Amino acid sequence: MALQLLRHALVSLLVVAVHAAGATRAGGDMHHLQMVTSTAGTARAVASCASWRLGVETNNIRDWYSIPAECRSYVRDYMYGDLFRQDCAVVAGEAAAYAEGLELAGDGEEVWVFDVDDTTLTNLPYYADTGFGAEPYNATYFDEYVANATAPALPEVLELYEKLLSLGIKVVFITGRHDDEEAATVKNLRSAGYHTWEKLVLKPSSLGSSVVPYKSGERQKLVDAGYRIVGNMGDQWSDLTGAPEGDRTFKVPDPMYYVG
Ligand SMILES: *[C@@H]1O[C@H](CO)[C@@H](O)[C@H](O)[C@H]1NC(C)=O
Ligand SMILES: *[C@@H]1O[C@H](CO)[C@@H](O)[C@H](O)[C@H]1NC(C)=O
Ligand SMILES: [Mg+2]
Repeated sequence: MALQLLRHALVSLLVVAVHAAGATRAGGDMHHLQMVTSTAGTARAVASCASWRLGVETNNIRDWYSIPAECRSYVRDYMYGDLFRQDCAVVAGEAAAYAEGLELAGDGEEVWVFDVDDTTLTNLPYYADTGFGAEPYNATYFDEYVANATAPALPEVLELYEKLLSLGIKVVFITGRHDDEEAATVKNLRSAGYHTWEKLVLKPSSLGSSVVPYKSGERQKLVDAGYRIVGNMGDQWSDLTGAPEGDRTFKVPDPMYYVG
């Protein structure tokens, strides 16, 4: 069953990849030194899209609004190529090895926190249609995409999810999706292969946009309720920072957008 779903997810991703294969490939990682302007108005030099991606993944580059225009084909090729898959496999593999090495109490209080968008589910179909993060965020389209409930699982994370459950670790999803998107999110998680969870925490529509206070506050509630957060995984640093972070954090690669 799980394998079938995994295959289904991979096929979905491949369909998207074939869809976008018509575009020209990037000429390489290196680009001429160019200045790009962020929303904050500061000019930044992008000498290499690979270096830019490393800066993004390590949280050295922050508060960026969209990917540098000249890195559009680089990001597309990364997302559809082997490297993204391999990078995801490294993250999920390290997380699985860490979880397997834990001395678990097995008391039902050990939990793993997952973010949803671009962590357990991939929004690559949406981003493929909107320039891989080069075009401005289209809230109307993204809301349609969420309501559609057809986001595929990130296969490596789904595999980790199954491993955690088999170890007796419970799963808690903490998502920036709003509570009025609960039905679509439940439907999508289930159809993507995530069949069981301890809690699915959605953001109250009344809450502002700041992620770190919301997510860390929800983790604190888990700790206050007696849970021990053995692991925490997300595609944004704002999923991972802010006490209590969890015993270990794992960053899923995502060069397409920044959520502070
Ligand atoms: C945003 O998405 C909606 C719905 O798909 C579409 O009708 C609209 O043209 C898009 N806006 C832009 C600026 O691309
Ligand atoms: C909704 O799902 C259908 C069927 O998978 C797909 O063809 C369509 O592109 C999706 N629309 C959005 C906005 O995600
Ligand atoms: Mg996310």
